[in-house]
Parts: sequence; structure tokens; C-alpha cells
Amino acid sequence: MVVSPSAEKRSEVERRIEELGPWFHNMELGGVRTAPEHFLGDYPAVKYAHFRTSLPADMSGLTVLDIGCNGGFYSLEMKRRGASRVLGIDTNDHYLQQARFAAEISGLEIDFERMPVWDIGALGERFDLVIFMGVLYHLRHPLLALDLIHEHVAKDLLLFQSMQRGSREIAAIEEDYDFNGRAPFDEPGYPKMHFIEHRYSHDETNWWVPNRACTEAMLRSSGFLIESQPEDEVYVCRWSSLVTPPDGPHCVYPKAGSTR
Ligand SMILES: C[S@@+](CC[C@H](N)C(=O)[O-])C[C@H]1O[C@@H](n2cnc3c(N)ncnc32)[C@H](O)[C@@H]1O
Repeated sequence: MVVSPSAEKRSEVERRIEELGPWFHNMELGGVRTAPEHFLGDYPAVKYAHFRTSLPADMSGLTVLDIGCNGGFYSLEMKRRGASRVLGIDTNDHYLQQARFAAEISGLEIDFERMPVWDIGALGERFDLVIFMGVLYHLRHPLLALDLIHEHVAKDLLLFQSMQRGSREIAAIEEDYDFNGRAPFDEPGYPKMHFIEHRYSHDETNWWVPNRACTEAMLRSSGFLIESQPEDEVYVCRWSSLVTPPDGPHCVYPKAGSTR
């Protein structure tokens, strides 16, 4: 039997995809789907569909940092919008290999580096768009990560997503609370983070799950103004010099490498 060059190429892509699996990002690479049986459906395309118009359609000349890039879905999409530089970082070599393969086969020039969010101060570079999607709840120190992003790498836009649990209500935030007044803490809409000591959804890397009020309060407290919430868990924010407390930086680690 004669095998056509295109059939041969497709089976090579299938082989590589299989070799690099399992995939969390479902993407079509060389006509082959990476995670057709994903438990969340066509993920993250189904999520992206809800907020894709909230980002600049033309990203020519803009730079992007994708923290926790995984298989590279958002990095690839930003490059397709014309971003001049896209850097994806992740702690997991397995995912980084997938991302490099996805970019290569798609003919997109994207840098991928193994780097935890804790080390971003060492980049010495600020980016027009920082993507911080689906990582916060995997961290033992989530507020520190937001502080580091604000202090070291964000220049303008932050695209943020966190899993949220608990009430969707937002209680009015007071400037101060009386020591003996315990009631505010029992309000469903008070900012709350749920600590996962063992596992959530069979995953031991889930540590903290905020409610909606807490997500928004943390973003504000780290100096990000919420511009829109195009999807339940997704926020588009803008960097601001307004951070609390107003009389000094509250993020001191790692100070070296700050570019502002
Ligand atoms: C749920 S996935 C989200 C992937 C992608 N951002 C998205 O929204 O589809 C979380 C990703 O964060 C990465 N990650 C976990 N801890 C990290 C850390 N400390 N620094 C950077 N990436 C991290 C994981 O390896 C994984 O690829």
C-alpha cells in the first residue's frame, strides 16, 4: 500500500501527540486534537469563547507573559493576534514540552521557560499583558503571587481566572471593623478563602479556593483595577499604582529585579 505524504505527516503528528500526552489543553495541531475526551469539553476553547473579545484583537507590538501556560493554548492565541513577544512559563516540564511542540507545529515563535511564579522578579521585564489563568488556587501563597506580578512583570493588562467556591454575593467592604463585631465575618458575601488541607477533585495541588468577593478584594489589594468580568471566574484588570497600604510597598520578595 502506498502511504501519501499527508497521511504520513498526520500519523507522525498523532504519534507525537500521543507521546506527549496526557494533555490538559485541547488544541488542533496538524489536524489532530490533543485532548478530544477532555472532562471539561473542548477546553479551554469553550472558556476562551466567553472572553476573547475582551482582549485587544490586534496585539501587534505588544508583549505577553503567560504564567502557568500549560500546553500553550493562550500563548498561541496571543501570538496569532500578532503579539511581538510571548513568553510562557510553567513549573511542569511535561506541559512545557507540549507547549513547545504546539508552537513549532503551528509555525509560531514563542518562548517557553521553566519558571515558577515566585521567580518572575528575575525576568527584569514588564509585559503589556500578563495572563494568570487557573494558577492562583494551585498556590500555597496566592496573595504573594499577585503581589509579585504587580511589583515585577505587569505593565498594563492582567487576564485573571480562579476557580471560585462559596457565595457569589459581594458584601459592602468597610474601611475598618470593630474588634467585638463578629457578624461581618459570617456574612456570605464577606471575602473568604477556603483552605484545602488534602485534596480537591482528587488533586493535591489545589490549596486555596476564594469566593467571588475574596477574588475581587485580592485583585484590588494587589493593585489591579477590575475593568470587566466577561465570564464568572474571569477578570480583565488594569495595573494601578494604588495599592494598600498606600504608604509603602507591601511586597518585599524578591525585591531585586524590579523594573519600575
Ligand atoms: C489548571 S492549569 C491552568 C493552565 C492554563 N493557564 C489555563 O488556564 O488553561 C495550572 C497550570 O499552572 C502551573 N503551575 C502550578 N504551579 C505553578 C507555579 N508555582 N508557577 C508557575 N506555574 C505553575 C501548572 O503546571 C499548570 O500548567
